[in-house]
Amino acid sequence: MYLNAQTTISHSHVKLIPYLPQHVKTYHSWMQNEQLRQLTASDLLSYEEELSNCHSWRTDNTKLTFLSANVASRDKRAELLGDINLFLSTEEPDDDDVGGETVVGEINMMIASSSTRGQGHGTRVLAMFVWWVGAQREAVVKEYLGETDGNQKLEVLVAKIDGGNVTSIGLFGKLGFTKVREEVNYFGEVEMRVRLDKAVKIARSLLGGTEPVVEIYDE
Ligand SMILES: CC(C)(COP(=O)(O)OP(=O)(O)OC[C@H]1O[C@@H](n2cnc3c(N)ncnc32)[C@H](O)[C@@H]1OP(=O)(O)O)[C@@H](O)C(=O)NCCC(=O)NCCS
Repeated sequence: MYLNAQTTISHSHVKLIPYLPQHVKTYHSWMQNEQLRQLTASDLLSYEEELSNCHSWRTDNTKLTFLSANVASRDKRAELLGDINLFLSTEEPDDDDVGGETVVGEINMMIASSSTRGQGHGTRVLAMFVWWVGAQREAVVKEYLGETDGNQKLEVLVAKIDGGNVTSIGLFGKLGFTKVREEVNYFGEVEMRVRLDKAVKIARSLLGGTEPVVEIYDE
């Protein structure tokens, strides 16, 4: 998506920034880790393929990404932490639903290095992202579907997580996601869902009531 091509979101020492060609080297080195690829359901790509993938995050209107970074250091040089992604699809309403199609956003994320996990970065990144998606829900749907009659709304967030990934299941649980069913699917994943409104409310509270700052990315 082009929506966040120049957007940066900051809260405390964490930033979400656009994924740009200058980041591909780091991203590509992260994805050499087989376990990380398995946990994020990612394929092993060559550097050239990753560069093209980086470009496609802009041109493909069904997906959106930010990189996350830690700017805690005194010299303010950001240390890249990982990424967070949204994949859009539409679902027909349930029989008892009124209104049009529901737009569903599937979130996938990582804090790439095990040395930077378990310090609360994942929680903050997910809360910031959910907050921003909530604020931009109409713009997201507009870029995804083009001009609409206004009946298609982004109302549900989904995460599909490896059934053994207790950390990620715990993290998404903190944002209000609940398992659709206990059993894993064919791919060994559990599906967790939350209404966007509910997740935004929880995100605000996890962020301590202080709104993230949204600015133009100019680095
Ligand atoms: C899942 C992931 C993003 C979590 O990031 P993180 O920075 O380590 O997360 P946090 O430190 O904010 O911890 C968030 C929650 O995860 C859970 N958690 C963290 N470490 C855990 C552990 N060792 N065991 C069980 N749960 C754990 C807890 O619920 C924790 O919340 P709490 O601290 O309030 O108890 C990170 O581990 C990761 O990138 N893993 C590899 C890729 C992956 O699994 N991606 C998810 C695919 S959707």
